[in-house]
Amino acid sequence: MIVCVGAGPGHLDFLTRRGAELVSNADVVAGFDAVVDVVRPLLLNEQQVVTMGYSDQVAKLAEVAELHQAGKNCVVVLMGDVHFSGFQFLERVETACGHRVETVAGISSAQMLASKGRVCFDETTFLTFHRRGNLTPFKTHLREVLRGGRNAIVIPRPWDFMPGDVAAYLLAGGASAAHQVEVWENLSRDEAEWRGTLAEMEGRKFSDMSIVLIRALTPMPTGLEGEQ
Ligand SMILES: C[S@@+](CC[C@H](N)C(=O)[O-])C[C@H]1O[C@@H](n2cnc3c(N)ncnc32)[C@H](O)[C@@H]1O
Repeated sequence: MIVCVGAGPGHLDFLTRRGAELVSNADVVAGFDAVVDVVRPLLLNEQQVVTMGYSDQVAKLAEVAELHQAGKNCVVVLMGDVHFSGFQFLERVETACGHRVETVAGISSAQMLASKGRVCFDETTFLTFHRRGNLTPFKTHLREVLRGGRNAIVIPRPWDFMPGDVAAYLLAGGASAAHQVEVWENLSRDEAEWRGTLAEMEGRKFSDMSIVLIRALTPMPTGLEGEQ
């Protein structure tokens, strides 16, 4: 068996019980160093651990696929929820194995940000730029999301499409400079790392563990009785 499990982001508290059970019962636990570190308190001495980084992920996943084919019970841990900004890694796992791999949903940094920023999914669009390949369709979509009066939760791409670049792109496309923006780093603090306007975000620098909330200019009406 091989399964991809969402873990974190950033802390074991945000691993589901199902995910924890799979990690604890695995023969092999694999993933990027930072994600394996999150689940490390659950690991036992007899479990084999395969850690990887961007540069050796293909070779390390081939190792994991071999262990899986040899009958080992393997869990690959991914940051947050695999369904948000995790599919390219899932694709790499599946390419290594030569077949589809089961996934177990996790809690995403986007969900944590929605909670901290008090925005609901219904009125918010999640976009990630943390992916390889052409970003143009995703950039255009972000512009349309704001034009459509929705909030956006955005994962930037280190280091060529960071929050400042996101702001520059949107402003050049005619977005209002007055959009309220929050940038959260490591999502572990009680306060946003930074709050300001889209225009103010343009010149700012943030770490690669940043996630951005761009609020709609006007909140949507709630639709409750007595409101328009
Ligand atoms: C490849 S994406 C994976 C996202 C993940 N699948 C999720 O659902 O949260 C990695 C990016 O997510 C964002 N991220 C993940 N964990 C975070 C955290 N604890 N605080 C802030 N941003 C985080 C950062 O922008 C980071 O570079």
